[in-house]
Amino acid sequence: MITSAEIQSVKQRFGIIGNSPLLNHAIQVAMQASPTDMTVLITGESGSGKESFSKIIHALSVRKHGKFIAINCGAIPEGTIDSELFGHEKGSFTGAHEARKGYFEVTDGGSIFLDEIGEMPLGTQARLLRVLENGEFIKVGSSKVLKTNVRVIAATNVNLIKAVEKGKFREDLYYRLNTVPIFVPPLRERGEDIVLLFRKFTTDFSEKYKVKPVSLDADAKTLLMKFPFPGNIRQLKNLAEQISLLEQEREIDAATLGRYLPTDQTRLPAAYTGASSSTDSSTDFSERDILYKVLFDMKKDMHELKKLVLESYQSGGLNANIINKHQNLFEDLESPVSFDESNTSSNVPAVNMPLVIDPHKNNEDLDEYEDESIEDIIHEEDDNSLSLEKKEKEMIIRALQKHNNKRKYAASDLGISERTLYRKIKQYDID
Ligand SMILES: Nc1ncnc2c1ncn2[C@@H]1O[C@H](COP(=O)(O)OP(=O)(O)OP(=O)(O)O)[C@@H](O)[C@H]1O
Ligand SMILES: [Mg+2]
Repeated sequence: MITSAEIQSVKQRFGIIGNSPLLNHAIQVAMQASPTDMTVLITGESGSGKESFSKIIHALSVRKHGKFIAINCGAIPEGTIDSELFGHEKGSFTGAHEARKGYFEVTDGGSIFLDEIGEMPLGTQARLLRVLENGEFIKVGSSKVLKTNVRVIAATNVNLIKAVEKGKFREDLYYRLNTVPIFVPPLRERGEDIVLLFRKFTTDFSEKYKVKPVSLDADAKTLLMKFPFPGNIRQLKNLAEQISLLEQEREIDAATLGRYLPTDQTRLPAAYTGASSSTDSSTDFSERDILYKVLFDMKKDMHELKKLVLESYQSGGLNANIINKHQNLFEDLESPVSFDESNTSSNVPAVNMPLVIDPHKNNEDLDEYEDESIEDIIHEEDDNSLSLEKKEKEMIIRALQKHNNKRKYAASDLGISERTLYRKIKQYDID
């Protein structure tokens, strides 16, 4: 019997937010299935959070010290998937210069997560069925039967029964995979979890980008809970990040929130992710992450720069005419700016001026510049022109760390080819 305290502790361990009965039930089934060697089929709409379930099942199983490999069946070309999963012999096809072990061989004793199983070609399905039935497989181009002991966890966001009816999925494999079904409920059926998740994502965002978190007023919370979220948690996360990034106001009311909620559900980008080949967290990570970071840094830099110019002027280091010409730049600063021409006590070119901090003013935002001259700051600004490259390097390092330096997975996570990744590793001199 699994207690609710045990379910809570699993949620905490795997960063799963929410308390709805449907979610708790799904976690409970995963916990019950974990210690067995049964094949598990995780179903649920795109973005509902299926991936964490595969991790729970492996981590709570006796195989936890064995390997865990997650494969996105939809992302591997049909021509190579057999060789990726089961390996090949040297010379078995053009380009097969060396023999290669497949995932089922290297994961012997561990678990394989087959994501987007509905995308698996029929020929591969036959091989998979065999390995599930008796642990046997044959490498591409070989006739030797090999044995492996792998636990299979599969996931899909498509209706496999329909796929069976259309002849795209083997019926026998469907029943074999579905030994333990786990249904991950859509977000719209999780009630207050929506608000809890929103809070989690806005808090994460605020910590990451060092800003005050946004919060929702009561009406906004009600509106959020009514929204159907066809893209589920992935869509909610996007929404939380968009609002955190774009809204000046930190307390969000229903009218403001409403502007971010799409009205035409059929045209939501999040709704398309299910149809795309990428199901792992890569979509939450690479491009959008870089873009947000660049935008956010830029916005912050602009704000800092405006303050800097203003402070510099107030301490007599800038000519009022220059500032007056660009009044509109300062409109978004908290304290209104008034410039008068008489305050041009010093016309020393600003670039060579050490930054003077007025101790009587609130200079919190400038603290970090205290020991720097404007020249240093300008150099820093120059460096910022390289920040796209810096960010790219950062993202590459993160992706490599995330995948234990497995370039193949890191490349796929970053949405670039393995060859491009090699080139970039060299270019940025990454160890
Ligand atoms: N309960 C949860 N608490 C916090 N974050 C969650 C939760 N469930 C999912 N997420 C986050 O939501 C995003 C989408 O989840 P995930 O990638 O697991 O979806 P999925 O069901 O695999 O979708 P797809 O079918 O498109 O692959 C991820 O960033 C994940 O970390
Ligand atoms: Mg997924």
